[in-house]
Amino acid sequence: MRNEKPLSELVRLRRATDTFAAESIADSDLEEILRAGLEAPSSYNLQPWRFVVVRDGNQRRKLRMAAMNQQKVEEAPVVIVACGDTLGWREDIEEVIRLGQEHGIGGDVWAQRKRKNVIADLGSHPNMSMWVAKQTMIAATTMMWMAEALGYDTGPMEGFDEEAVRTVLGIPAHFRVLFLLAIGHLRGEDGKYPGRLSPSRTVFADRYEQPFQFTK
Ligand SMILES: Cc1cc2nc3c(=O)[nH]c(=O)nc-3n(C[C@H](O)[C@H](O)[C@H](O)COP(=O)(O)O)c2cc1C
Repeated sequence: MRNEKPLSELVRLRRATDTFAAESIADSDLEEILRAGLEAPSSYNLQPWRFVVVRDGNQRRKLRMAAMNQQKVEEAPVVIVACGDTLGWREDIEEVIRLGQEHGIGGDVWAQRKRKNVIADLGSHPNMSMWVAKQTMIAATTMMWMAEALGYDTGPMEGFDEEAVRTVLGIPAHFRVLFLLAIGHLRGEDGKYPGRLSPSRTVFADRYEQPFQFTK
């Protein structure tokens, strides 16, 4: 039986990793990490996330330059570049409907209603960048936790030049490049816990500014 770390422990102990060893990631683990992310929930199940898995040393070197020269981008054996496709839903809606029907979610009435709702919602959406970011970050975060559960270390990043990343990876203009996730094995000492704001600043009960009472 594999020794997977429990989520409660990971939540306590995970740190954003800055320095990675050259040691690689097992293909089976990488696939499990990716598939975990692909099981994330998304609005209408439209899955607008697109991931570029960067392993090639040359590509990692170029990506590092596009990412503020952050050394972890080149050091980590894998960097997952999480993107959101702002137009893909127009194509994917029919496949998502087909999948829903295949899995017994609904019939023709369900399909028509879903098509109508999606087009009404997304056809005139005021901020598709925001919409794809919401979905994609859940999938990417799921990958982060799965990687940690399998015993790897992770470095989340938004410090990059979007256009430069697009150029290095050949990412189309209608994709937003949202997030980089370095995965590998920590080299040296992990970062220290930097602390968190008091929950009184960030969590409220029933309405904003009404304190949520933690019992401990
Ligand atoms: C969306 C996002 C973007 C981040 N971007 C960077 C980055 O570009 N470079 C970096 O060194 N750390 C980056 N971090 C890591 C944060 O600095 C780190 O998570 C935070 O300081 C809390 O530390 P902890 O994760 O160890 O608890 C990022 C984290 C997140 C969630």
